Amino acid sequence: MDFSSILIQWYHQNKRDLPWRTTKNPYHIWLSEIILQQTRVEQGLSYYLKFIEHYPTVNDLANANQDEVLKLWQGLGYYSRARNLHFTAKQLVADFNSEFPKTFKEIKNLKGIGDYTAAAILSFSHNKPYPVIDGNVYRVLARIFGVTEFIDTLKGKKVFAKLAEELLDKKNAATYNQAIMEFGAIQCKPKLPLCKECCFQQYCYAFKHNEINNLPKKEKQTKQRNRYFNYLVVTDNINILIQKRNNKDIWNGLFDFPIIETNESINNIDNILSNELNWLLDKSTKLSKSNEFVHQLSHQKIHATFWLFKVDKIKKTIPNSIKIKYSDIHQYPVAKLIENYIKSFL
Ligand code: ADE
Repeated sequence: MDFSSILIQWYHQNKRDLPWRTTKNPYHIWLSEIILQQTRVEQGLSYYLKFIEHYPTVNDLANANQDEVLKLWQGLGYYSRARNLHFTAKQLVADFNSEFPKTFKEIKNLKGIGDYTAAAILSFSHNKPYPVIDGNVYRVLARIFGVTEFIDTLKGKKVFAKLAEELLDKKNAATYNQAIMEFGAIQCKPKLPLCKECCFQQYCYAFKHNEINNLPKKEKQTKQRNRYFNYLVVTDNINILIQKRNNKDIWNGLFDFPIIETNESINNIDNILSNELNWLLDKSTKLSKSNEFVHQLSHQKIHATFWLFKVDKIKKTIPNSIKIKYSDIHQYPVAKLIENYIKSFL
């Protein structure tokens, strides 16, 4: 079977017109590929256009402030992608004369760029013969060629890398790589792939052996952690307290409210407020509790309860929080969960 010819032919007949496919600009390609990691094209497209409009060049991105970049990213999730993007833009300006380096090694050394993104940038912008390997590619190769190695072990990764290298059409790396990504995205989909009308049907191991839903294989199932966030939403109708997340935890750099994390859901907040926060329970305070908001992340399920403290006047703040105008809250970058709460309750 001539895998790459069939694939490329399929691509020319079925590809979507996407703006990052008509550019050779490494900065634009980088931006698109970072946005598209863990994100569907339909969702990523508007973000890509927004970013290009706000930051047409890498200098524009480097000169932006982080809050602004995170605000534009709001809703896409995996916010470390945005922080790394910003960091690397600054590095490209400072150390590489605002240009992308041209070797795999140098590109891979940049923060937030791994094998996949380095291969994507070099192949799409310079047609260099590096195969892209991501979840789409693992799935396509595992199914068609019946590769049963785990995709999350070193040994398995090596097997897939070797096969990907052999299959790559080295003279047409840009087209070939776009094609295999597109094939994984719209034909050989994770669920309900379109096997009935597939150009590889007669060759496909998984189709012949009824293994579509068993390939690719993973050694470890991702473990999930439940977390219980109690948000203290303190407002006097003019002002509100918010905090910037700045530890190694999720949503670093985004804003939320002062928080108390517990091991399980709680029905009463009084007992867990420290003495320092007792002022929140002044007689005049009106306290109400939201329903639980459940938010699924890749490895964590967040159960958030918002405890709304309507106080007469915010006289003290809470350590690490800042007092802002209630009406300014929309200017701050927040995670989707917080955005949902603000939209419906504030
Ligand atoms: N997902 C990530 N990169 C992609 C690309 N270049 N085309 C389609 N889907 C993608």
